[in-house]
Amino acid sequence: MADVKLRDVAKRFGDVTVIEQLDLDVQDREFMVLVGPSGCGKSTLLRMVAGLEEVTSGTISIGGRTVNDVPPKDRDIAMVFQSYALYPHMSVRENLAFGLKIRGTPRPEIDRLVEEAARILGLRELLARRPKELSGGQRQRVALGRAIVRKPSVFLFDEPLSNLDAKLRVQMRAEIKKLQHRLQVTAIYVTHDQVEAMTMGHRIAILHQGRLQQVGTPLDVYERPANVFVANFIGTPPMNFLRATVSDGGAALAAPGVTLPAPAAARQALASRAGRPVIVGVRPEHVLEAGRATRGATASLRLGIDLVETLGDEVVVHGSLAEVPVAFKMDPHHPPEIGETVAVQVEVDRLHLFDAETETRIAG
Ligand SMILES: Nc1ncnc2c1ncn2[C@@H]1O[C@H](COP(=O)(O)OP(=O)(O)O)[C@@H](O)[C@H]1O
Ligand SMILES: [Mg+2]
Repeated sequence: MADVKLRDVAKRFGDVTVIEQLDLDVQDREFMVLVGPSGCGKSTLLRMVAGLEEVTSGTISIGGRTVNDVPPKDRDIAMVFQSYALYPHMSVRENLAFGLKIRGTPRPEIDRLVEEAARILGLRELLARRPKELSGGQRQRVALGRAIVRKPSVFLFDEPLSNLDAKLRVQMRAEIKKLQHRLQVTAIYVTHDQVEAMTMGHRIAILHQGRLQQVGTPLDVYERPANVFVANFIGTPPMNFLRATVSDGGAALAAPGVTLPAPAAARQALASRAGRPVIVGVRPEHVLEAGRATRGATASLRLGIDLVETLGDEVVVHGSLAEVPVAFKMDPHHPPEIGETVAVQVEVDRLHLFDAETETRIAG
């Protein structure tokens, strides 16, 4: 078992910097999800942990041992990719055994490890098949099996579910999570999908343009996003944002079309910002139809309705306030019509405040 530490890790390709000075600690047996939009550097970072890519500067250690100069096969890791990369001419059994065979593992030991992995992953009936005789989910399970038989200290996953359809993805996501719990192995899991990140990670690390934005439990990050990027990236539908000016000595936020009372917890921090611009964030679930039970202080406003999306258990209503979009959720049985105006209440103490220039969170 092993922890993974990245210290001051940077990666440049020529003069293009892909990863800026980055620090990350993954604890022993933790499931860490590295999430961010396409191109932000996730695969590069994971490949550096795997040893498939050299670090330009900084150190990576696994289980207390610096591995910068250790080749991938000696790092005690196993990696699962988006493409399953199974050997098409080999059976499932041979695919599972192959890595062990080239390492010179004795035959009885190989058989035992393959049987064990096949049992854990529900592949025992399929051991004689070739990859082309398997479904996408089964192939991905074989790819997982190849990682399991190695008994690594650290699993590295790079978007392993991206080739699967939506339903199978949800199922495999649960299976991988259960597997990690059962094997009690450290895992670093890369995805661009924030729902995958939220549902799978003990903690999630959000990467944007090669810089770590925030590391925390899913709830930490959801409830206290460190900046506008994280606030916008995590959560569906995304957080709503209004530009406002701090007024009334820090007690109010004046936005086009509405003046909101400032959240009690932020007033002190806002006092020194009187007259300055801030970005106010409000999650869709904190905008409620007038008449519904609310928590704490509220502000009333009226939204023009632009679009209604029915999800079944609820509808997502896209409205606007002085041309700024504001999404919220309503009971699915009485949705408003497009063009109507709806009275809503905003839960003031649930507002998120960000500096308008740096876009970082203001206390509260
Ligand atoms: N070998 C390489 N040479 C030059 N640029 C690269 C190389 N590998 C990746 N990049 C660049 O690094 C950035 C991050 O890539 P990547 O780590 O694959 O992102 P992600 O996995 O988050 O989508 C991209 O802009 C990509 O073009
Ligand atoms: Mg990638």
